[in-house]
Amino acid sequence: MSLKACIYDLDGVITDTAKYHYKSWKWVGGQLDYNLTEKQNQKLKGVGRKESLDKILKWSNSRISEADKQHLLHKKNQMYLEFIDTMNPDEVFEGFKNFNALAKGVGLKVAVGSSSKNAIRIIDKLDLVLAFHAIVDGGMTPNSKPEPDIFLLAAEKLQVSPENCLVIEDSQAGLTAAKKAGMKSVLFGQDKGLKGAQIQINSWLDADLEIFKKLY
Ligand code: BG6
Ligand code: MG
Repeated sequence: MSLKACIYDLDGVITDTAKYHYKSWKWVGGQLDYNLTEKQNQKLKGVGRKESLDKILKWSNSRISEADKQHLLHKKNQMYLEFIDTMNPDEVFEGFKNFNALAKGVGLKVAVGSSSKNAIRIIDKLDLVLAFHAIVDGGMTPNSKPEPDIFLLAAEKLQVSPENCLVIEDSQAGLTAAKKAGMKSVLFGQDKGLKGAQIQINSWLDADLEIFKKLY
């Protein structure tokens, strides 16, 4: 078996959007008279928009109508998009572009597999649209992470079998999705206690293609 493709998560792997999600979810918390903490925001990593609101409603013991839920989701996303629209290519994590160029240089296919319905807008702000062979976002599959659909669709678009794909992820939902898709994974970042990855790297400066290849 050999490594033929890298599938990157976007949020928390290519750039830091968690800070923007946090500000927007904190506003939602405020509407519910609830103070959302940064630690709780961490638990929303990789979790879809609607599912994130469900968690906040549970934490705050809130019961609201379906119409109010839709209203809060809409307002949250509007606020989030205002932050996203200020993003620029300097917000790409250091070392990512080098790694990606190296991977493509040795013939690997590369894709983004993100739960975010805003993924393409973010990738555009980062000026990375042409950096990938395929982009799959949260609007393209029926199920979001931790289900495997997003990664399986990315593999299909790349025309690579799942067992030849390596997923790079920062969230438990994403690592579980990779495993369910039959793909190996790299945990990106410094989080401890996440399960399912074959190996962990702290940053793109630590990413070593030779080590990744040896996983196969
Ligand atoms: C994931 C993020 O990539 O996308 C989550 O880690 C986010 O925090 C999810 O909730 C959905 O994003 P969006 O942009 O569709 O609200
Ligand atoms: Mg992520």
